Amino acid sequence: MCGIVAYIGPREAYPVILKGLKRLEYRGYDSAGIALLNGGLKVYKKKGRVSELEDSLLGKDLHANIGIGHTRWATHGEPSDTNAHPQTSASGKLAIIHNGIIENYSQLKQELTKKGYKFNSETDTEVLLNFIEDIQKNNECSLEEAVRIGLKRVVGAYVIVLVDQEHPDTLIAARKGSPLVIGVGKGEHFLASDASPIIEYTKEVVYVNDYELAIIKADELILKNLGNDKLTPYITKLDMELAAIEKGGYDHFMLKEIFEQPNTIYDCLRGRLDVEAGTITMKGIEEYAEQIMNASRIVMVACGTSWHAGLVAEYIFEELCRINVEVEYASEFRYRNPVINKGDVIIAISQSGETADTLVAIENAKSKDAIILGVVNVVGSSIARVSHGGAYTHAGPEIGVASTKAFTAQLAVLTMIALKIARKKDTISEERYRHLLEELHAIPEKVFKLLESIEHIKEIAEKYKNARDFLYLGRGYNFPVALEGALKLKEISYIHAEGYPAAEMKHGPIALVDENLPVVFVATKDAHHHKVVSNIQEIKARKGKVLAVVTEGDETTIGLCDDVFVVPEADEIVAPMLNVIPLQLLAYYIGIAKNYDVDKPRNLAKSVTVE
Ligand code: F6R
Repeated sequence: MCGIVAYIGPREAYPVILKGLKRLEYRGYDSAGIALLNGGLKVYKKKGRVSELEDSLLGKDLHANIGIGHTRWATHGEPSDTNAHPQTSASGKLAIIHNGIIENYSQLKQELTKKGYKFNSETDTEVLLNFIEDIQKNNECSLEEAVRIGLKRVVGAYVIVLVDQEHPDTLIAARKGSPLVIGVGKGEHFLASDASPIIEYTKEVVYVNDYELAIIKADELILKNLGNDKLTPYITKLDMELAAIEKGGYDHFMLKEIFEQPNTIYDCLRGRLDVEAGTITMKGIEEYAEQIMNASRIVMVACGTSWHAGLVAEYIFEELCRINVEVEYASEFRYRNPVINKGDVIIAISQSGETADTLVAIENAKSKDAIILGVVNVVGSSIARVSHGGAYTHAGPEIGVASTKAFTAQLAVLTMIALKIARKKDTISEERYRHLLEELHAIPEKVFKLLESIEHIKEIAEKYKNARDFLYLGRGYNFPVALEGALKLKEISYIHAEGYPAAEMKHGPIALVDENLPVVFVATKDAHHHKVVSNIQEIKARKGKVLAVVTEGDETTIGLCDDVFVVPEADEIVAPMLNVIPLQLLAYYIGIAKNYDVDKPRNLAKSVTVE
């Protein structure tokens, strides 16, 4: 939540920061602001999108070689010009941008209020900045020193970047629990929440760790811990191309990312799955294979779409590996007192690798000696770094706020892990193992074929766009797919949608069915197919409109439905990677038909770094 960008060096800071903010808008888009230092501190901020800030600055003298910028997802205080960042200090000399939440801000605010401080905004950020300025004043110390002292008292999560008009050659940054990447150029530095604002200038980056402080000048980067010890910055080379974060001719990132899935699934399997040799190579899993095999249970922790991937994986692991699996919402798991024993295996699933609840859940489990494996998309992210092992999903940057290609890549990785463990544990026959390797290998091609035949989804979207509610139903491996379809529709089209196990419908939701309710079945050929067909009949008998994802050639089911999305035939274990795709597109085209900004749905942000 919230995107931060900063620059120091010989370039004009404003265009670098503005472009960076546009790239980070997926993290929050209710207000934006920029502070520049050029013979004094100048702060510009505005409620709304980054483009609105840009329009308001046309014609202004924005020359500066140092600056900070922010795009906000509101936590404390409604979206407004005043609550937008950068926030400035009481003296007007300091400015700050912040991503995260200062949990003890009201206590700090009370202390400062007693000392006579007044606050313009409702933000925790303004409190933090004045707290730091107060320390600086009382101790007559440098800003760096004041930040270090101040952060020792701060409870919560933050990335902060500060500028001081009296030291226009320095940026001070610090992090705990929210991401911060520093791009190292020739005589210049770039700071951002992720690498996307940096990639076109340099590929050399430093990922700042929790409790680290960076003192950054154009030609110098000093990293310290909060104890004031100097640390050696570890420079990593970015493995990402600029094209990966651009729309490449598509109208929206979401559409581009849906259409990238043949490639992203292929990239995920590449170098790992060898059908001829009958092997799956995953180093980060192999090291822990014995522990996974012998674990009395595996707990998958995740949020949202990633949680749905965990649900599919639960079915796959239990079927193939005969290991008990529990799938937990990270936000629940971390706040109860779960029984975690030494040697329990926890699999954290996360696209961003920064989701605060998932991160804290695994940190807690790690402290109880559990083995933590990450199934993560963003290389070098916090969850990846906290995990003992795991596997990247290699889906490339996902910028559309609604997750699409990350889901199918997570399924591909989790299926490979299950197959690998099942093989080692001997809970799968050679024949079934070989068959599933082939089925997995065939998925990218089948996704490609499926995507070639989806034009009619636009018409279906047009037909149902005014429905008030939708019901999504599926059984077995297709139940989490139904949940995911419903989530996509809610996010993108703001239509109320519920996902349910098809059989559970009779225990309540069937009361909703009338001639106005579209019911989307995920009804591909699998072990439960005939039961799902009976459920379709039950909806038809009550005049509900049935839309269904069906297997190519299944004319009987096709004949029962009002509208169908035909997918290629596939084994039920790998079928969710195909079946979800028409549902992603249905949500996308309904959102478009309703004229919504599908890449930036209201109230959402891509990376939920607050708890
Ligand atoms: C849904 C969506 C969210 C994320 C969730 C977890 O389209 O994007 O539900 O899946 O916030 O995010 P990650 O996977 O980054 O941990």
